[in-house]
Amino acid sequence: MGLKIHPSVLCADSGNLQKEVETLNTSGADSFHMDVMDGSFVPNFGLGADIFNCVKKHGKLPVFTHLMINEPARYVEYFRELGSDTIVVHPEADRQCAATLARIKTVGAIPGIAINPGTSVETVKELLPLCGMVLVMTVNPGFYGQEFLEFTVEKIKTLCELRRTFGYSLCVDGNINAERAKRLSEYGVTDFVIGTALFVGEPSALIREIT
Ligand code: DX5
Ligand code: ZN
Repeated sequence: MGLKIHPSVLCADSGNLQKEVETLNTSGADSFHMDVMDGSFVPNFGLGADIFNCVKKHGKLPVFTHLMINEPARYVEYFRELGSDTIVVHPEADRQCAATLARIKTVGAIPGIAINPGTSVETVKELLPLCGMVLVMTVNPGFYGQEFLEFTVEKIKTLCELRRTFGYSLCVDGNINAERAKRLSEYGVTDFVIGTALFVGEPSALIREIT
């Protein structure tokens, strides 16, 4: 069905990163999902230049960067230079999100937005035609291993409908496992960020089960 899996590098064994990256290269995954956190927009820190450089050096898949940072426009070129092929930003963190999406496109990356559980489609609908990727958060961003928020499913269904008009890739992020991926794919979700569930066993086994 052409489903795509984006492993969350935040959940990989950071002490063994080169090996983890090499395992993911041949696992059937479609990108490296990189969670960048600034301790301000979200209450956690994560994934800086060292990790990006390791992925750039050893990875053979595209880099999908999720900026959970305030004023993301300031760092578009920075993360593009670190190898990002897709850059998603939170409209909640950016007063000029349409301009930021244009800037991401200008530097040669696929632009996208990530939508918090508490953000409605209505708030972001003008941005949808500017997006190659829409990432729906199914947990509050900041940490892996949280509980899936069921109330986000209505929004996912709405964005699946709107996808027919705008053509973006629709991705979900937050406590996705095989069962949820199958259920959400029935609504039309095509892309899945997977953290905890992917690294408990062999990543390729779960990816095969889903795709
Ligand atoms: C949450 C991050 C996710 C997270 C996924 O803030 O954006 O990418 O690492 O991990 P799980 O699948 O454990 O929720
Ligand atoms: Zn993420």
